[in-house]
Formats: sequence, C-alpha cells, structure tokens
Amino acid sequence: MDILITQDYQHMSKVAAGLVSRQLQKKPSTVLGLPTGSTPIGLYKQLRKLHRQGLDFSRVSTFNLDEYLGIGPDHPQSYRRFMDEHLFDHVNLAPEHIHIPQGDTDDPQVACHQYDQALVASGGIDLMVVGVGVNGHIGFNEPAEHLFYGTSVVDLTSETIQVNADKFFDGDIEQVPKQAISMGMASIMKSRRVILLASGPSKHEAVMAAMTKGITTRNPMSILCTHPQLTVVLDMEVWGEGIPHLPPGTRVTRIGADAR
Ligand code: GLP
Repeated sequence: MDILITQDYQHMSKVAAGLVSRQLQKKPSTVLGLPTGSTPIGLYKQLRKLHRQGLDFSRVSTFNLDEYLGIGPDHPQSYRRFMDEHLFDHVNLAPEHIHIPQGDTDDPQVACHQYDQALVASGGIDLMVVGVGVNGHIGFNEPAEHLFYGTSVVDLTSETIQVNADKFFDGDIEQVPKQAISMGMASIMKSRRVILLASGPSKHEAVMAAMTKGITTRNPMSILCTHPQLTVVLDMEVWGEGIPHLPPGTRVTRIGADAR
C-alpha cells in the first residue's frame, strides 16, 4: 500500500486526477471504476479541466460502483445523474462505454448478474477509484458479517442513510433509498489498481481502523488495504497526528503543495 498525504481537499483532487490521467495516457482503452459521493467531486472537476486540455476519454470504459435501488437515471439524486453532471456530460466518453447499475429495474437479481457479465466482458477494471464511508464502507459494501463477491442488492446502514440524507437529501431521511445495488467486494479487489480517496476529519477513524486494527468485514476498507496495488490519497485532516503501526511494506509519502 502506498499512502500519499496531500495538503487539503483540492490538493488531494489534483493528485488523484494526475494518477488517473497518467493511466489514461498509458492505456487509452482503460477500464475505469468510478465512485460517487462528495469526495470525488474535486477529482471530476480536475478531469474536466484536463479533458479541455486534451485528455482523451474516447476509448475509455467506465463502471460505477453503485446505484440506489428503486430510482431511475433521471431522479435528481440518482448516481447516474450525479455522474452526468460531474463528468459524463463534459468529456468525450462514448455512451455505450458507460456502465452504472440499473436502479429502476423490475428484477434486481438479473440487473446484478448483467452488471457482473458486463464487467467480465470488459476484461476487468484497470483502475478503480473509490471513496470510503465514515463506517469504512466501500461502494455500498456496508460493514457486515458477510460481504458479497459480485454485484448485489445491499441494505444501507442507518448511519449511511443519515450521512447521505444530510449531504444530498436536505436531511430528509424518508427520501433516501434504503437499498442499493453495489459492485461486490471481490469484483473491486480484482481491479488491477485501486486508488482510495479520503478527505476531512470524519474519515480519520474509519481509515485508521482499516489500516491498524486488522482485516474484517466490519470495516470493508480493511479488505481493500490488502490489495497489492493500492494507493491511498489522503489529506492532512484524515492523517491527523499520523497513523502508527501501518501494515508491513506500507510506503508513506508527503506530497508538496505544488506536486501533482
Ligand atoms: C456513498 C457512496 C460511496 C462513497 C461513500 C462516501 O454513500 N456509496 O461510494 O465512497 O458513501 O461518501 P462521501 O464521499 O460523500 O463521504
């Protein structure tokens, strides 16, 4: 695991955008895994800027981590709408290369299966970008006794429902879907490379626990920390006073404010 400590949210977003753009330059037909949430908004802003400067998405394929169950792509809080607004409408991605779980499906099991089939047919994810929930969730793989291998219907925890209500639904818990379709933990782990973004003091505890308290399905990020090609891009607020007793082989780099 590589940990890159950045100065703040904007710096984290620029460093992450640099990593993504280098991947796209190296492999123009990259299969990219993408997150939603407040954390990647700055990354998407930087990618829009890099696209205006010539970064090409024409051969890139994307697979989003998750979608709320029971709402369609036109719902204002759907992850499809979020992605259109922050990235897809602004770059030259081919519409047929974009994949997001179908939230308004009549048959969620079939939708999950088809998503997994599309993932396999793509040849697998080259670069997966993820955020992390305050409880350590990855995508919508919530802390639980068992996690799913592949794409599955998941129940959201009350903590996640509350956090998402406050951030995206004007605090109205009733409006937040209680279930979602999420890419499975094993599918995420099969990605050839993973970048995890975390910003702000609310993420300190989950990140610290994932890195220091052992591997447990009760903190899905801890499983991700075993990935052989994981880069964690943090800001100073997540790092806090520092995280002691990191897993063996972890490299920690402080990135200067001007570096990308
Ligand atoms: C959301 C998403 C996750 C995201 C996480 C953190 O509910 N399903 O993919 O990483 O919660 O969100 P945020 O970036 O807003 O803190």
